[in-house]
Amino acid sequence: MRAIRGEILYFTGDPAGGGADALRHFADGLLIVRDGLVAEAGPADALLAKLPADIRSEDRRGRLIVPGFVDTHIHFAQTDIIASSGGQLLEWLECHTWPAERRFADPDHAAAVAGFFCDELLRNGTTTAAVFPTVHRVSVEALFRAAQRRRMRVIAGKVLMDRNCPDFLRETAEDGDAGSRELIARWHGRDRLLYAVTPRFAATSTPQQMRLAGRLFAEHPGIHLQSHLAENRAEVAWIRELYPEARSYLDVYERFGQLGPRSVFAHCVWLDDADRGRMAATGAAMSFCPTSNLFLGSGLFDLAKADAAGVRVGIGTDVGAGTSFSMLQTLGEAYKVLQLNGQSLSAERAFFLATLGGARSLYLDDRIGSFAPGREADFVVLDPAATPLLARRSAACETLAERLFVLMMLGDDRAVAETWVMGEPAWRRA
Ligand code: GUN
Ligand code: ZN
Repeated sequence: MRAIRGEILYFTGDPAGGGADALRHFADGLLIVRDGLVAEAGPADALLAKLPADIRSEDRRGRLIVPGFVDTHIHFAQTDIIASSGGQLLEWLECHTWPAERRFADPDHAAAVAGFFCDELLRNGTTTAAVFPTVHRVSVEALFRAAQRRRMRVIAGKVLMDRNCPDFLRETAEDGDAGSRELIARWHGRDRLLYAVTPRFAATSTPQQMRLAGRLFAEHPGIHLQSHLAENRAEVAWIRELYPEARSYLDVYERFGQLGPRSVFAHCVWLDDADRGRMAATGAAMSFCPTSNLFLGSGLFDLAKADAAGVRVGIGTDVGAGTSFSMLQTLGEAYKVLQLNGQSLSAERAFFLATLGGARSLYLDDRIGSFAPGREADFVVLDPAATPLLARRSAACETLAERLFVLMMLGDDRAVAETWVMGEPAWRRA
């Protein structure tokens, strides 16, 4: 058993739903963990009195303790091409992505990048992520092994591509299916690892591969499916040519049985209300990736319309088109994207989306995303005075909402003092 004392914040519901009781806040709180799970979170004075005599609480007063961040869309194989300039989506894929992903045929390269990638997530307070490796089986193995060693929750699966990509990344639909099946048998449900059927996007799969991917998703209860959807206008036009029979880009995925609970689609910028309605009705989720959408000039995500339709939404960094591993920075950019759309994002909603909202979008809220008793004890210790500017600006705040807003606008990896995984320290700032 361990007990950590500090300012504690987590959500029990979506603050956008109007429920003031969606947020639990203990200015002087205690988080008690037992066997890697949350035993209790509450006011320090009451809980300290109940603590067994041999348990000393660990003092983090002055710091803010929140559930580990949930990154609902990121590419580990693009770690080394973050901040590579030039072009919108389709050109960027050609120039930067394909050459970078080619190197993941080499297991040593894959293992080295996977280790760096998982450490970088932890440095940024991210304890759960839905991750794209590459088409190479060894890339998936490397990522799962690196995450397993750090006891992180990772959802990932072999990328499927059988057309419109270089031959060094292409395989047949049947080979992609067989490779996925082997990986599912070996990794799905092992420790905290979960498998996601991962057709890259409808443009790089033939109808046959899309069919097999939908079948795989249907055949394995509890499995995820992840892809990209309606990110860029040229991409949307290309999909219309490739699948003229479909009503919309989203409809392509639906026709192949790829929508449902535990399917998550990155971007979702160029959708209509019928698409949003189908996503809500089927239980599919959107991953809002603001830094990527700005970097590639893709467009502005419409959170108000997603909310109106009742779609599940999480936040994704989408590294390497995304420009930061930091969920704090990503929330800051989400705010700016919504500003450009005439919308707003409260700090409470933002922190909800980065924690419980992300967990809900991935159907993992019974295990992560909050400090409700029994949840896996993943958490971040944030330092509101991590930099001189943060310290100065935070000191002038009067309300919790103001302090959270300052953290998401000015904070980054420097504001992450510690990251804990399953009730144990996993990373600590020097
Ligand atoms: N669409 C298909 N593949 C990708 C990718 O790797 N990154 C982004 N941002 N969009 C994609
Ligand atoms: Zn992506």
